[in-house]
Amino acid sequence: MSRTVAQFDEGMTRPDAQATEPGASAAFASDLRSHVLGPMLVRASRVRSFVDRCIALSFRLEGGQYWSRSAREIMQTRFGVHIGAYSYGPCFVPGAFPRGVVIGRYVSIANGVCAFARNHPMDRLSTHPFFFNSLMGMVPKDEVETGSLVIGDDAWLGANAILTPGCSRIGIGAVVGAGSIVTRDVPDFAVVVGNPAKLIRYRFDEATRKVVLASRWWERPVAACREELGSMTIPLRDPMSHPLLGRAAGAIPRQGEGTR
Ligand SMILES: CC(C)(COP(=O)(O)OP(=O)(O)OC[C@H]1O[C@@H](n2cnc3c(N)ncnc32)[C@H](O)[C@@H]1OP(=O)(O)O)[C@@H](O)C(=O)NCCC(=O)NCCS
Repeated sequence: MSRTVAQFDEGMTRPDAQATEPGASAAFASDLRSHVLGPMLVRASRVRSFVDRCIALSFRLEGGQYWSRSAREIMQTRFGVHIGAYSYGPCFVPGAFPRGVVIGRYVSIANGVCAFARNHPMDRLSTHPFFFNSLMGMVPKDEVETGSLVIGDDAWLGANAILTPGCSRIGIGAVVGAGSIVTRDVPDFAVVVGNPAKLIRYRFDEATRKVVLASRWWERPVAACREELGSMTIPLRDPMSHPLLGRAAGAIPRQGEGTR
């Protein structure tokens, strides 16, 4: 069953959402750019040897990876990787991210980042894929479960970070340091570094984190953020006065204030 635009948009922006279904791509948000040749490129990408060229051409015709609707559709329908609007990086490299991964909007993924959704079985005589991966042609169906992975909106993954199957969620607005090995879930707005990655701090204090989460600002098209460029390009000190957060900030009691 195909989804409605509203359902699909929700799937793009909720980091706890399930991977979107193949075929739902017709409802990509208007934040993206389309070219009249886009549908042809999506069809042509079914031929394995054309995929890279179809993605590259989609970028060329549709304003690059931040904007290309067809490249997203190729990644979703051919590789099961859902990429939200404005997100960029090696998630567009076929095979770099596992099938079923859901990447939110405004996500920055630096070069060399890779993610793995499953381990080889370790309790059998052999760990080789001959004996668990149906693509190898020996076992009729995959015998190792693939985990899910959701990368929250506006997360930033530093160069060469590796996400192992122990991590199923990178939080909204989280930061992963360059070269880190992430083995567990990362909370919203956390900064994690090292091997194994450990939390060193949060980007904002708890009250601010609540306000930013409640605002869901990342659901807005970038044009709306651009209108408030002055506030988007300075440190977030007072969420109450930020035009994209104002309403959400007002709805959350300040510390010490009770609800009446
Ligand atoms: C994670 C990061 C954002 C933190 O930046 P920061 O807040 O300025 O952090 P600092 O440099 O003050 O370091 C804080 C501590 O974390 C450690 N640290 C920082 N980044 C680290 C990393 N990637 N791996 C391991 N440890 C790291 C520092 O050694 C320091 O430890 P200490 O307190 O024991 O001395 C930054 O270090 C980083 O990795 N950026 C990614 C850059 C990148 O990949 N860009 C790609 C282009 S998009």
